[in-house]
Amino acid sequence: MRIDIITVLPQMLIEPMNCSILKRAQDKGLVEINIHNLRDYTTDKHKRVDDYPFGGEAGMVMQIEPIDNIISYLKSQREYDEVIYTSPDGEKFSQKIANSMSCLENIIILCGHYKGIDFRIREHFITREISIGDYVLTGGELAAAVMADAIVRLIPGAIGDEQSALSDSFQDNLLAPPVYTRPAEYKGWKVPDILLSGHQAKIDEWKLQQSLERTKLLRPDLLDDKK
Ligand code: ADE
Repeated sequence: MRIDIITVLPQMLIEPMNCSILKRAQDKGLVEINIHNLRDYTTDKHKRVDDYPFGGEAGMVMQIEPIDNIISYLKSQREYDEVIYTSPDGEKFSQKIANSMSCLENIIILCGHYKGIDFRIREHFITREISIGDYVLTGGELAAAVMADAIVRLIPGAIGDEQSALSDSFQDNLLAPPVYTRPAEYKGWKVPDILLSGHQAKIDEWKLQQSLERTKLLRPDLLDDKK
């Protein structure tokens, strides 16, 4: 898989995209993540990528030309499955979307900024608009980082123990059960006996029960979604 991220703040993405599972997946050749500085694609001598909005609103708007330049350049190199724009107006990101995106070959993520982007970009280049939640971020970089992380960890081989991505919270619309490690007792606080019993079938049943109970308690909306 290849992810091209277009941003005016590459420094917000370079480190986060180079840590932990994201780094390992890139080192293993499972994914290529390229961060492009939009300012490198402007012909303006001051490297401006924004301008005042028509109609006199407050705030600046990202201009069409630099974005056209970079997206057209990338598209001349390969085909893209999606050109995603991060925006609070977008479809809400979810595990389901992460799953489907992890199966794609090439995606572009355009990080929004300022008051927004010239609407013609959304009409002519963007295939999908994604929000990571009902709050407003200063820019789309953190949203792009969240999406890239959630997507890349689902690529087979990205996580050491492949099972562990499958047992994540949300993977089957259930929250994950509690987990424990040694010591089996700490300050009198005990790990549930069942986990030490060695009866795998009973342990699995306990885990499912815990998942159901925790979901019912903490996120009952997820159980509604199952219907
Ligand atoms: N840009 C600003 N806020 C955002 C959000 N909630 N999700 C995605 N991109 C954004």
